Formats: sequence, structure tokens, C-alpha cells
Amino acid sequence: MANRILVTGANGQLGSELRHVARSSYDSYIFTDVVMTEGVATTYLDITDRKAVRTFVTENDINIIINCAAYTNVDRAEEDKDRAMLLNATAPENLAQAMKEVEGLLIHISTDYVFGGDGDKPYTEEQPTAPKSVYGSTKLRGEEAIMSVGCRHVIIRTAWLYSTYGNNFLKTMLRLTSERESISVVNDQIGTPTYAADLADTIVAIIEGGKAERNEGIYHFSNEGVCSWYDFAREIAHVAGNTHCEICPCLSSEYPSKVTRPAYSVLDKSKIRQTFNITIPYWTDSVERCINKLISEK
Ligand SMILES: NC(=O)c1ccc[n+]([C@@H]2O[C@H](COP(=O)([O-])OP(=O)(O)OC[C@H]3O[C@@H](n4cnc5c(N)ncnc54)[C@H](OP(=O)(O)O)[C@@H]3O)[C@@H](O)[C@H]2O)c1
Repeated sequence: MANRILVTGANGQLGSELRHVARSSYDSYIFTDVVMTEGVATTYLDITDRKAVRTFVTENDINIIINCAAYTNVDRAEEDKDRAMLLNATAPENLAQAMKEVEGLLIHISTDYVFGGDGDKPYTEEQPTAPKSVYGSTKLRGEEAIMSVGCRHVIIRTAWLYSTYGNNFLKTMLRLTSERESISVVNDQIGTPTYAADLADTIVAIIEGGKAERNEGIYHFSNEGVCSWYDFAREIAHVAGNTHCEICPCLSSEYPSKVTRPAYSVLDKSKIRQTFNITIPYWTDSVERCINKLISEK
């Protein structure tokens, strides 16, 4: 039987990519958000409204939720803790309760920022968390809330998300390296970028592979490979042909910020690869695909 899937935060980066992948799916998807994008069919659903979530799930016979909604502005969250907590912890709890009532599955997205970033080896799902930011700690509370409600769940921690949709590092670097003679980019934060289209493919593969029910828990997903934000910026400029712009490495300490970001947040993807039998693209290949798509859409 086809699944009836509710996508929340569907007009964000990941939700928009899911719309593409879902087009060729046998399952039935309903895309919801609190922001409406012109020309994009979206049903209004505010996931902080527990009653509205519950009603939506029962009226639409939903058996899977993919939660792409979150408070994702890491800097602003430091001064907007209550709202970040509401969206990143209370709202996922609402979704978990709704799925618990109908014995459905919640696929929830979390972040590498739940880790402290003091290590030098890729983080596995079992390693202790130690968030350093309001964003990271509220996202961790969201994970904990889902597990304590006890609905069937797959929580996917991802990192450094970019897409052709919305605002993100890749699009900012494309613009800056085309406009400026030189820019400085931090070289002391190490991680792995994630093309949201690759994550969307993986989420749909997990659902359609039918293995999620037997493999609940936390998983890590990013693209393959390791780089700094400086390496990421250089690759973007290289692929786009913006070679006139000099990209200079600098230290995080040269950019005073209210947020402490993890210095090292590479995720170990062995568990998701093996459990769901997926192949993950290398980060530079995905950067190239994303930029080519942006160019072709111009
Ligand atoms: N972006 C990253 O680098 C990154 C890294 C690691 C993990 N993640 C995680 O990956 C997931 C997807 O991130 P993303 O970058 O695709 O997010 P995004 O582009 O910020 O999209 C989130 C969407 O949720 C909407 N939303 C906000 N409040 C809502 C509410 N009350 N009810 C329903 N929808 C609401 C947002 O609307 P507004 O635009 O009006 O807020 C937006 O359309 C999130 O869980 C995020 O924490 C992201």
C-alpha cells in the first residue's frame, strides 16, 4: 500500500529538494510550511501548533512525517532561545506524539552541531553529544523529545547543507567570488558539506526500501570527504570559473561571533550506508552538480 507522507517545512532547502525526488514516487506526499512560495503548491501547517498537527495527521491519513522544518539561523538562535526551543524541540515532540497515536514513522533531521567538535575522528552516532550553541542544544533536545515520546523514528543528523533553493554558503560564495577581488574564509572549522538533493534521495530510498521500521534510531548523513569552509569556498569558485577572486584562509578568531561552532564535525556515515545500502556522492562531485543546475536554470 502507498504511504501517505507529510513533509513539514517543505519550502526550505531540504523540503524543496524532496519535492523533486517525490515526483517519481509511488507514495503520496503532502507538502506543508508556514511560508508560501509563489507558484509552489503548499498547504499551511504550523508544527508548533500541537492540535493542528494532530488534526492534519488524522484527517489526511498520514503514516509518515518527514520533518524538514526547524529554526536554522545559528547566529540568531543565540538571542532567540525560546523560539529556537519551540521550533527545534517542542515542535518535533508534537510530530512524534501525532505519529505515536497512529503508529506512524517520524523521519526527523538533526545536526552535526549537537557535537562539541573537539575531536579529530569522524563522529559516530554513539559518541557523546556536547552542543556549544543554542541551535545545537535545542536540536539535541528535539532528538531527546522524539525518543522519549517513543514513536517509530529515524533521526538523521546532517551538516553544512546547501541547495539551489534558499540562502546558503554555496550561493553566497558564488556571488562573492564573482563580485570581489579577494575574500577571507575560515580554515579552522573542518566538516563535510551536504547537497540537500543527496539527502532527499537518501530519505526517499529509506522509505521506499521499507527498512526503516526494522532500523529505527539515529543516523549520520553528509556527502563523503572532509574539508574546511576555505576548501569549500575554493571548490565553489573553481567550479564556477571565478578564478580572478583571491580566496585567503583565516581563523575563526578573526571573526568575532556570539556562537561557538564545532572546530571538527565530520560525521561517520558507516551506519546509514550499511543499514540502508546506499552510496553517498563525494562532496566535490555534488558541488559541481549543484552549480551546474544553478547555471542551467539561469
Ligand atoms: N542548513 C544547514 O546548514 C543545516 C545543517 C545541519 C542540519 N540542518 C537541519 O536540516 C533540516 C533542514 O534544514 P534546511 O536548511 O532545509 O532548513 P530551512 O531552509 O531553514 O527550511 C526550514 C523551513 O521550515 C519553515 N518553518 C519555520 N517555522 C515553521 C513552523 N512553525 N511550522 C512549519 N514550518 C516552519 C521555514 O520557514 P521560515 O523560512 O519562515 O523560517 C522554512 O521554510 C533542519 O532540521 C536543520 O536543522 C541544516
